[in-house]
Amino acid sequence: MENNEATRLTESLTQKVDDNDYLSSFTNRYGTYGIVAAAASTVIIHVLFFSLLMGKKKGKKRGVPVEVGGEAGYAVRNARIPQLVQFPWEGANTIAALFEQCCKKYSQNPCMGTRKVIKKDFVTASDGRKFEKLHLGDYEWQTYGQVYQRACLFASGIVNFGHNVDTRVAIFSETRAECQIAFQGCLRQNITVVTIYASLGEDALIHSLNETQVSTLICESKQLKKLAAIRPSLKTITNIIYFEDDENENISDLLGSMGGWNVSSFHEIELLGERAPVPPSLPSKDSLAVIMYTSGSTGLPKGVMITHGNIVAIAAAVMTIIRGLGTNDVYLAYLPLAHVLELAAEVGTAIGYGSPLTLTDTSSKIMRGTKGDASVLKPTLMAAVPAILDRVRDGVLKKVEGTGGLAKKLFDIAYKRRLQAIEGSWFGAWGLERGFWDVIVFKKVRAALGGHIRLILSGGAPLSGNSQRFINICMGAPVSQGYGLTETCAGSAFTEWDETTVGRVGPPVPCCYIKLVNWAEGGYTISDKPMPRGEIVVGGFSVTSGYFNNPEKTDEVYKVDERGMRWFYTGDIGLFHPDGSLEIIDRKKDIVKLQHGEYISLGKAEAALMSSKYVDNLMVHADPFHSYCVALIVLSREVLEKWAEEAGMEYKDFPELCDKAETVSEVQKSLSKVAKDAKLDKFEVPAKIKLVADPWTPESGLVTAALKIKREQIKAKYKDELQKMYH
Ligand SMILES: *[C@@H]1O[C@H](CO)[C@@H](O)[C@H](O)[C@H]1NC(C)=O
Ligand SMILES: *[C@@H]1O[C@H](CO)[C@@H](O)[C@H](O)[C@H]1NC(C)=O
Ligand SMILES: *[C@@H]1O[C@H](CO)[C@@H](O)[C@H](O)[C@H]1NC(C)=O
Ligand SMILES: *[C@@H]1O[C@H](CO)[C@@H](O)[C@H](O)[C@H]1NC(C)=O
Repeated sequence: MENNEATRLTESLTQKVDDNDYLSSFTNRYGTYGIVAAAASTVIIHVLFFSLLMGKKKGKKRGVPVEVGGEAGYAVRNARIPQLVQFPWEGANTIAALFEQCCKKYSQNPCMGTRKVIKKDFVTASDGRKFEKLHLGDYEWQTYGQVYQRACLFASGIVNFGHNVDTRVAIFSETRAECQIAFQGCLRQNITVVTIYASLGEDALIHSLNETQVSTLICESKQLKKLAAIRPSLKTITNIIYFEDDENENISDLLGSMGGWNVSSFHEIELLGERAPVPPSLPSKDSLAVIMYTSGSTGLPKGVMITHGNIVAIAAAVMTIIRGLGTNDVYLAYLPLAHVLELAAEVGTAIGYGSPLTLTDTSSKIMRGTKGDASVLKPTLMAAVPAILDRVRDGVLKKVEGTGGLAKKLFDIAYKRRLQAIEGSWFGAWGLERGFWDVIVFKKVRAALGGHIRLILSGGAPLSGNSQRFINICMGAPVSQGYGLTETCAGSAFTEWDETTVGRVGPPVPCCYIKLVNWAEGGYTISDKPMPRGEIVVGGFSVTSGYFNNPEKTDEVYKVDERGMRWFYTGDIGLFHPDGSLEIIDRKKDIVKLQHGEYISLGKAEAALMSSKYVDNLMVHADPFHSYCVALIVLSREVLEKWAEEAGMEYKDFPELCDKAETVSEVQKSLSKVAKDAKLDKFEVPAKIKLVADPWTPESGLVTAALKIKREQIKAKYKDELQKMYH
């Protein structure tokens, strides 16, 4: 089977797909000849470039200090644009206006592309489970003009359907073209749209719909069953609009069971609009466009109120950040998290819709021998979350490792050369050699994503430096990391396309300022050397209006300064590099005051202790009623068993080994050593530890998909163990 490691992009989001092997086929194809040619040309090119290019790129300023109001701190703005941008252009003050103007300007350009199902099959796995396989057709495009027309029809149709425009509409669906049309349609009637991620679960769904008194719910037909089941809890809903899927087998049965609701398909709404046009009731800049529900780390989700002004400010900023963004770009929309990127639609970019399960040729829902979304669409832009990119890297490396031999050598040489070039210790970054390695080694990796990617945007959580580098090299495209929260309308900082360092999230985007303020108790101040540190506060046009129906929480974290600028206190701790790039280093929530008044940063202690060879993952826990901290340690089984063998330990099974006093003492010693190297204070080193035999996986609910620990869940699960360590 044709293969490519980058296909793991898909699998990571979904389920395991059969392994296949790009490197071994690669070796067969190029064999020894490839290795020799590689080595020879490396020498030649090395000499060539050495004489041509000298010296490293001088540090470029990305963010510069700025005078602002509000609480004293160290504030930075984007270096390229002195004044905050508020609108993409004159007259584009709302999403509705921006969309309308854009659609008129690019009326003949492709806007949204979707694929039809040509054939559908089920395959039965060895364990008896059935998997759906799809053969999808080419992308079929609608122009900006057509999409605008449909949004207008929907805007009329929803009124004719009987939706009371003074009540809210909710959209509960995966990313798809109809979502965007329905969304734009609602906004033309100044209807506020409530968005709820499908992953939030039933309780969250019921809570969100009830809290915002939603009367019309727009969803996918596959959700209808679920809704019918929770019908008694959805008291405010009177209307349901569903997106037709390619086959709605038993939809009429379902509809019968949804008594009391007015149910209509998306298409019927458009027809209702066509029959009797209703004039739009356009919003203004301060109208509420969206209430976006996001999961809180504890308790019920919170609804963040986002105005039209917030979103057009972000759109304006995105246009300045992505170089040359426009009609030549093709964006692959498949992640529900990437709403901000769909704003690219506002500048004439073509958007092809896909799904995580059909992304590449080897994705789990793609029928063998047929094409995945990326290879048909050939996108130039796409978004990803770190968990996906981490797994792409692990997948490729594992495969290279397993293949061994020539292919591995070649890959290693290629990777190392490119890494040196990027880091500036060697000069071939843009040269012939780059082209050489691209053709020989990386081209096939890239083909999995269509071969035209020029920028990958990563957000949602910090991306590890290793993964950033790896994707950078294998995909040949920069990975831009973003930092932002729903409360700041997603993107507050973005790394620029030519950023070569890792671990930073870039300068503030041009629609907001980022300020660090002292958090003295936590030991972070703006006068810290060598770089200012403090709590990250975001101010500007993208700062949202607060939490729906929760003024107390809103007042706690949002402030308006004497100049009228809104600021949001993120609770994240950051530092500014001399070039004006932000780096996230800690979370305020993760800092605990101990009995004798010292503050311990759990995240800092964890990061330091993580470098012990025995540690696979860990959680440091501190109790304010004690003067010391403790830790739960997930062991690296392989390393520990190796030690046990050398130490001549006898044990029945791994859990027993973990419980042995000798083992605990050995791990303690290792922790003390790394703590000393990292200059941790005495109270930051766990006085007692508990070794955990079972790994923490996303499935267990103890870590996130990005493998970040979930403190509350771990605390609950290991309540007894934690208590014991304090007695
Ligand atoms: C729905 O909201 C009302 C207040 O608006 C509240 O009294 C009720 O308990 C809520 N019901 C559910 C199921 O959350
Ligand atoms: C549709 O419903 C009928 C009876 O209600 C059932 O026999 C049939 O298998 C269903 N079809 C599908 C595809 O679920
Ligand atoms: C459904 O729509 C009809 C016609 O618009 C209306 O008379 C009826 O009251 C609606 N039913 C509900 C439950 O809202
Ligand atoms: C639009 O809706 C908002 C509520 O979100 C309301 O305050 C505003 O007056 C409406 N604007 C127009 C132009 O009707």
